[in-house]
Amino acid sequence: MNSILDKNLILKGKKVIVRVDLNVPMKNGSITEISRILKILPTIKLLIEKEAKIIILSHIGRPKGKTVSGMSLEPISKKLANLLDMKVFFNKNEINEKTLIEIDKISNGSIMMMENIRFYEKEEQNNDSFSKKIAGLGDIYVNDAFSCSHRAHSSIQGITKYIPSYCGLQFIEEINALKKITSEITKPVTCIIGGSKISTKIKIISNLIKIFDNIIIVGGMGNALLKNTGINIGKSVCDDGYKDLVEEILEKSKAHNCSIHYPIDVVVSKELDGNGTIKESNEVNNDEMILDIGPKTIASIKNVINKSNTVLWNGPAGYFENPNFANGTKEILEIVGNRKYKDKIYAVAGGGETVAVINKFNKLDSFNFVSTAGGAFLEYLEGKELPGIKALS
Ligand code: 3PG
Repeated sequence: MNSILDKNLILKGKKVIVRVDLNVPMKNGSITEISRILKILPTIKLLIEKEAKIIILSHIGRPKGKTVSGMSLEPISKKLANLLDMKVFFNKNEINEKTLIEIDKISNGSIMMMENIRFYEKEEQNNDSFSKKIAGLGDIYVNDAFSCSHRAHSSIQGITKYIPSYCGLQFIEEINALKKITSEITKPVTCIIGGSKISTKIKIISNLIKIFDNIIIVGGMGNALLKNTGINIGKSVCDDGYKDLVEEILEKSKAHNCSIHYPIDVVVSKELDGNGTIKESNEVNNDEMILDIGPKTIASIKNVINKSNTVLWNGPAGYFENPNFANGTKEILEIVGNRKYKDKIYAVAGGGETVAVINKFNKLDSFNFVSTAGGAFLEYLEGKELPGIKALS
């Protein structure tokens, strides 16, 4: 894989398209956590030092090919400017013939950030002509978004067909760390999966069963398990469908001797900003939402972690933004941290929300490695060849 550290790579005056992952948590138009912005700084600083013209591409959220004003990258371009203490030109215009003229105008060592690449429906379709169009904006392409490299999208995969392509510094760091983890992993391995991206993760769980000893499913993912085993989850976060997949997960787990754990008790409320009531999982009313795991579930998670040698974690256990529903997530951090501190386990966490929660509770030292990647992290663990890695190989 070619990297931007390649000694023969001359970057001065070159237009370098950098795909990064600026999919950061936002609330009412403000960024609530900046880890993913901080992570791109080494690559950006290197490109500035090498006097390249930097064109930043990223997505935020899932606008599904439509322009959604609340999903603009503009506030993030301002934050980046502030962190670098330099101007970042934000280009909200549609990408067309004029874009190249606009890029040509910026001086060497300057940055232009383009608007959310997912405002174009052709991005997620990995459309060839769109890939060629964005490749036409630069001389060199750099993927510094390992966390998006499980997506076969134009700005991750298609673009590499049309322009010399390299990986960035964060990409290298993540791959090296994950390679080491997967080669040195010691059993019993426990994987904790939470969060709300059910559609992305539920299929992955089915494939992880073969390689892990325990899978603990919490958060929105836990809701999917409860709902599809016939338990009423009231108005909790959960997409429809997945009955067959949940059945497959439970069946497969028996065949592969992998224990699946999902909430026995939960914390519910009628409102996101309400107080919590602890209930058995099968006692949720129609007008209630499951917003955290309960004490019995926490105790059973502790029991599993205490018997593990490796713990991998992606996705919070509840709606941690409200302190009334943060207890499950905090307790998992505490349990993992204690075991890691005593050198009893090797612990790795990954994911945008997961990084946010680890930082919020100041628990970076509970883990041996923290990846910015969520879905990509899980698919890498699954042993899949990620489209973004394949494209650079
Ligand atoms: C992430 O947050 O995992 C990445 O930004 C990818 O986002 P996606 O799941 O919407 O593709």
